[in-house]
Amino acid sequence: MIQENVSLKPFNSFGLNASARLFGAFHSINELRNALVNRPHETPLLILGGGSNILFTGNFDGLVLKNELKGIEILSEDEHNIIVRVMAGENWHQFVMHCIDRGWGGVENLSLIPGTVGAAPMQNIGAYGVEIKEVFSSLEALEIDSGEIRTFNNEECQFGYRESIFKKSAKGKFIILSVTLRLSKSPHFNISYGAIQETLDKMNVTDLSLRAVSDAVIAIRQSKLPDPDKIGNAGSFFKNPTIDKIDFEGLRAEFPSIPGYKLPHDLMKVPAAWLIEQAGWKGKTFGEIGVHKNQPLVLVNYGDGHGNDLKELAFKIKDSVAEKFGIELTPEVNII
Ligand code: FAD
Ligand code: EPU
Repeated sequence: MIQENVSLKPFNSFGLNASARLFGAFHSINELRNALVNRPHETPLLILGGGSNILFTGNFDGLVLKNELKGIEILSEDEHNIIVRVMAGENWHQFVMHCIDRGWGGVENLSLIPGTVGAAPMQNIGAYGVEIKEVFSSLEALEIDSGEIRTFNNEECQFGYRESIFKKSAKGKFIILSVTLRLSKSPHFNISYGAIQETLDKMNVTDLSLRAVSDAVIAIRQSKLPDPDKIGNAGSFFKNPTIDKIDFEGLRAEFPSIPGYKLPHDLMKVPAAWLIEQAGWKGKTFGEIGVHKNQPLVLVNYGDGHGNDLKELAFKIKDSVAEKFGIELTPEVNII
């Protein structure tokens, strides 16, 4: 059922007090189709998952449809692998726990990422050395204009670092309904990300397990990132930028402590958190909003902040980093 003038505060992890002119939830594909067919002509549409990667800069003058499609189904399995279809409205972290409980490996490094399964391919969620594309098989999506359901395989999704076709040429055209993943019954553990091994050692783990890796990832995340239930935030506000190796060498001559990670094709990834900290923003507060004290890549709403002020702060940060280092930061968060 569609309601009018609904507060979005409970539905966005920044805890911003925006409202939607029209709001409804869909629990089935039929409900979704009905809501689309009956929406007033030319009304802007926003599909909402957990609202953990969205910045509402003001009220949304359109229809917000919250995804409540639920269900997890095993499509096939053999002694090594299991193919699982997950409906898009399932909570991502709960799904990860479901997998760990059953000994299905592949998503344990992605523990505690907030949001829904359906939003996960949007930006190819990633953490601690793993991205969803590594276990992704396909997804089903409803094309908004035609009402047809289309399947996208891994290649068709055009995954990249925090990227997919759904943020580029297919932006705003599809509603992801379900995601199919290929998980492993004989997991290969990915603990190459330094902090994981260190945390496992501190936890005195000698026998590696999916649960142990997940617990280590959760412990690291909880020590670094603010809990959105306590301090409003949307995780990393910007992506980590990629620059040419030659430009990196130039910067290193001027800023000898600049960190960088080698990528193929003579490229380097530079941590945006370092750039923002060096530009003097770490821990700064401006009334109700600010830059987190432990992780400067995370912008925060302490309670009653406004989305537009957060956007302005983000752009000031972007400008100052561009001025100091000549590096352009790109927002990861979807600014609405
Ligand atoms: P929403 O915020 O609801 O939506 C995000 C975008 O996707 C919007 O444009 C929305 O319209 C669109 N969308 C959502 N669902 C659908 C659908 N079914 N069909 C079509 N479009 C859709 N991300 C990482 O990659 N790695 C991390 O480690 C990580 N850590 C985080 C930590 C914190 C504390 C927070 C708050 C966020 C973090 N994020 C991280 C970002 C966020 O969790 C992910 O981007 C997540 O996938 C967002 O899911 P959501 O359901 O909340 O999406
Ligand atoms: N750093 C600083 N100062 C700080 C904090 C960090 O200089 O106060 C520098 C350090 O050099 C540190 C580096 O930044 O080594 C990286 O920091 P961190 O390990 O915290 O990771 P990140 O690059 O900031 C990325 C993702 C996270 C993901 C983690 C773990 C992006 C944009 N962010 O953060 O994803 O959880 O790695 O893999 O790629 C998200 O996308 O929302 C998100 C939280």
